[in-house]
Amino acid sequence: MTDGYLWFEGIGFPVVGYSYEVLKEACAQFVIKDEDIVLVTYPKSGTHWLVEILCLIHSHGDTKWIRSVAIWDRSPWTETDDGYKLLNEREGPWLMSSHLPFHLFPKSLFTSKAKSSLPVSPPTSTGGHCRNPCTSHRELITMTDGYLWFEGIHFPVVGYSYEVLKEACAQFVIKDEDTVLVTYPKSGTNWMIEILSLIHSNGDTKWIRSVPFWERSPWIETDDGYKCLNEREGPRLMSSHLPFHLFPKSLFASKAKVIYIMRNPKDVLVSGYYHQSVMKLCKQPESLEQYFQWFMQGNVHYGSWFEHIRGWMSMRHRENVLLLSYEELQKDPRSTIERICQFLGKKLTPEELDSVLKNSSFQVMKQNKMSNYETLPVDLFTRPFLITRKGICGDWKNHLTVAQAEAFDKVYQEKMAGFSKGLFPWE
Ligand code: A3P
Repeated sequence: MTDGYLWFEGIGFPVVGYSYEVLKEACAQFVIKDEDIVLVTYPKSGTHWLVEILCLIHSHGDTKWIRSVAIWDRSPWTETDDGYKLLNEREGPWLMSSHLPFHLFPKSLFTSKAKSSLPVSPPTSTGGHCRNPCTSHRELITMTDGYLWFEGIHFPVVGYSYEVLKEACAQFVIKDEDTVLVTYPKSGTNWMIEILSLIHSNGDTKWIRSVPFWERSPWIETDDGYKCLNEREGPRLMSSHLPFHLFPKSLFASKAKVIYIMRNPKDVLVSGYYHQSVMKLCKQPESLEQYFQWFMQGNVHYGSWFEHIRGWMSMRHRENVLLLSYEELQKDPRSTIERICQFLGKKLTPEELDSVLKNSSFQVMKQNKMSNYETLPVDLFTRPFLITRKGICGDWKNHLTVAQAEAFDKVYQEKMAGFSKGLFPWE
C-alpha cells in the first residue's frame, strides 16, 4: 500500500473501501445469478448515469428510490468491501456494478444468464481504454499493414480469417473430455504438443513421426484447426494462443483440462524476433530494437505478453487448470512430465515415461520433420527455419543490451506489480 494503491493481480485499486481479501474472494467465488443485472464499466465511462437510468427503469420512472437510497446501495460494487457484503446478503434479482477488468470478473458470469450492460465512452475520455463494440466489425479489419486485425489484436494473415476468428471465439464448444494447451507464442507450445502426443500414445513414436503437430493438436482459432476440431469426435487435444478475454466462453462451463505454459518474456521476445524475421507473410522487423519496441507495446501477433499472462493467471486456482513453465520443463523434465500425467489421469510405465522424455528432448525433436516445421512450404520463409532454434533458458542475455534489459525490467515491474515473485521461475 506504500505507493497509494492496493495491488491485486497486477492491478492497482483504491486503498479505501477495498481489501485484498475481498477482492480475492469476490473474483474467485462471487456467484452471479441468472436474474441479476450487471453493469460493467471502466471508471469514468458513465457508471453513475447508467445506474440512475437502470434504477428509474426498474421503478417505472418513479423517483422515490433514487431520491432516498444512495447509488452504491442501489447498485453495489461486486468488488468493494461493502458492496460485496451487501450483495451476498441480498435475495432475489439484483442490480450490481463493477469496474473489474474482464479477466478478473467472477467466472460465474459466463455460466449465468445474467444481463450485463457495458456503456461505452469515446476512447479519449478514458485514456483510450474502451473499444466501441458497436463499431462495424468490418471496419476493424485492415490487412493493409500486413496484419489481420480482430478485436484490437493482430493475427497472421495466412491461415487465419476474420470470420473464423469471430465464430471460434464466440461459438466454439469445448467439451469436458478435451485437453486444451494454451500459450503465448514462443513459450514452448510445440514442445508441449510433442510431450502430450507422446503421453497420449504411451510413449509410442508412431503418431509424432507420421502426423504433423498442427493435426495432432489443431489450433482453435486458425481456419484449418477450427474446421478440423469441429469434425473431430471423442476427446480432443487442441492448442490456442488466444488471450483470455477472446477465448471461447464454453471453457468456463466445461471440465476440460487446460495446460498453460509460460516462459521468461525476455526469451519469448528473442525467440519471437527470430521467428518473425524469417516469416515472409508478416511484417518483418528491421532490427531486434524494432521488434523490442513492438513487443513492449503489444504490437505483435496475439497482442501483449503482459495482458496474456495476466488474463490466464486468473484461472490458475481452478482444479482443471495446470500452470507450467518452460523453465521448469528445462530444469526437471521428468518430474514435470510426471505432473502432467497425474493431471491428465494417465499412468505410464517407467519405460513409457523414458520414451516420452527421450523423444520430446530438444535433440530428438529437432530431427522430427513432423514437429520442427520442416514440412511447411519453404516459400513461407526468407531462409530455412526450424522451430527448434536454440531451446535454452536465458538466451536473452546473448541478445538484449543492458539498456534494453533495464527498460524491459521497468515495464515488467509496472505491469506485473502485485503478483508474487515466487509465481514466476525467472529472475
Ligand atoms: P527458441 O527460439 O528460444 O529456441 P513455440 O513452440 O511456442 O513457438 O516455442 C518455440 C520455442 O520453444 C523455441 O525457442 C524452441 O527452440 C523451443 N523448443 C521447441 N522444442 C523444444 C524442446 N524439445 N526443448 C526445448 N525447447 C524447445
